Amino acid sequence: MAASKSKNPQVLFVTPEIYPLIKTGGLADISGSLPATLRELGTEIRVLVPGYPKVLAGAKNKRLRHVFHGLPEAAEVRLLSASLPGSGVPLLIIECPTLYQRDGSPYQDHSGADWPDNDRRFSLLSRVAAILGSDASPLAFHPDIVHCNDWQSGLVPALLHFAPGKKAATVMTIHNLAFQGIFPPKSFNQVGLPPESFSIEGVEYYGNFSFLKAGLYYADHITTVSPTYAREIQQEPLGFGMQGLLAKRHASLTGVVNGIDMDDWNPAADPRLAKPYDAGHMAGKAANKRALQEKMGLAIDPDIPLLGMISRITHQKGGDLLLEIAPQLLQEPVQIVLLGTGDATLENGFRQLADTHPGSVGAMIGFDEGLSHLIEAGADMFLMPSRFEPCGLNQMYSQRYGTPPIVHATGGLADTVEDGVSGFVFDQETTTEFHRCIQRALAAYRDKKTWRQILRNGMKRDFSWTKSAEEYMALYETILNK
Ligand code: ADP
Ligand code: GLC
Repeated sequence: MAASKSKNPQVLFVTPEIYPLIKTGGLADISGSLPATLRELGTEIRVLVPGYPKVLAGAKNKRLRHVFHGLPEAAEVRLLSASLPGSGVPLLIIECPTLYQRDGSPYQDHSGADWPDNDRRFSLLSRVAAILGSDASPLAFHPDIVHCNDWQSGLVPALLHFAPGKKAATVMTIHNLAFQGIFPPKSFNQVGLPPESFSIEGVEYYGNFSFLKAGLYYADHITTVSPTYAREIQQEPLGFGMQGLLAKRHASLTGVVNGIDMDDWNPAADPRLAKPYDAGHMAGKAANKRALQEKMGLAIDPDIPLLGMISRITHQKGGDLLLEIAPQLLQEPVQIVLLGTGDATLENGFRQLADTHPGSVGAMIGFDEGLSHLIEAGADMFLMPSRFEPCGLNQMYSQRYGTPPIVHATGGLADTVEDGVSGFVFDQETTTEFHRCIQRALAAYRDKKTWRQILRNGMKRDFSWTKSAEEYMALYETILNK
């Protein structure tokens, strides 16, 4: 199905989460905004997503399109078309109540344990995508490209590679190499790939079955979400075991930095804020600081520097570094606000920190989209001491909200924050360097003129999707012309 030169390729974008329907992290933001921009630029696109309860409840204009019988993952699977609230991007939803109709996150139950049948759940996502990308598709829409995202759609390139007949080309985007979808060999037997693909030259990973490796091995092209991360993952330690394969495929590996949804994250028109503001009218930012201090039980003080952090609380994000330096840092003095969920020990660490420093530290353990916007607006600085960060979105939201980010020079953080210009960057992932970097930011904060300039520099930066979406479109063309 090679695209003719005169028309843009048709794309099936496959994702396990999509904002505003279901979100655990940045992949949802990307899935909610990149396809909309690709569509504005003329791509005919459909987004394929599992029918979790929130997806079925929130999607608009749902219509039954097809019923699949006898797939390996489930006896009956319904395919619906729908549209995404807001942008109206066309969706395809896989309705399969035995696999998707459950409370909890897309990947885990309420206790934080992975769903025991995640292999089957995401094998189904990959299977339906592969059918839609082959000439066995029951739909009139025939994609030229199937664009896969993270391990949950990693089987698509392998399934299509072995599918007979005409088929779409595949792009595999890595959003985070730390998550690979590794399952015991018996999962492989249920998927129906040829036995010879269970080898080092295929989907096998140290005796197990790796969904992500299937994608990385068989995709026509691999992308990841920043140029620096594209380099980092070809070596240890950030290759997470895939560095050999990625280095071998380096000619087919491109880093395209993420954009942000400039409408959803716009301080001048953000309904979740106490007061809108822009670079010319910063009084609104002070009102948001006050609202944030009130909401988090902090002392109301317009002058004290307020440091914000929003993240999955995992080893990746470096929350432990903040916990370690917090007692010293609080003597500056500063206030700290944390919104996040994840590792139970670290969650407790933040709860305790808040308990021992009432009025100075606020910790909200949970997921709260509204509060995340208020923190971006109300904080003076934003902390991202990530050990690695494929792209990162909050450092871009922060610059747009006049809240200079303090970031470790890794992955997309290195590519999107300029030290001393619109944020602060430290090189070594140590508590000493992190603390020193915060102190540099605090010194700049005390110098009103310098601070105003840094805020302005960040707020006028263009993080919109257009440039990166054009890069994806050029890449689709190149792949199809090969
Ligand atoms: P990652 O995808 O690795 O978690 P990103 O920086 O790409 O990191 O994106 C994280 C996204 O998830 C951002 O939109 C951020 O605001 C949001 N987020 C993370 N944790 C929370 C939370 N506890 N509540 C609300 N939003 C959150
Ligand atoms: C991942 C990464 C994050 C990136 C996001 C969207 O979850 O951890 O750095 O911004 O995907 O690409």
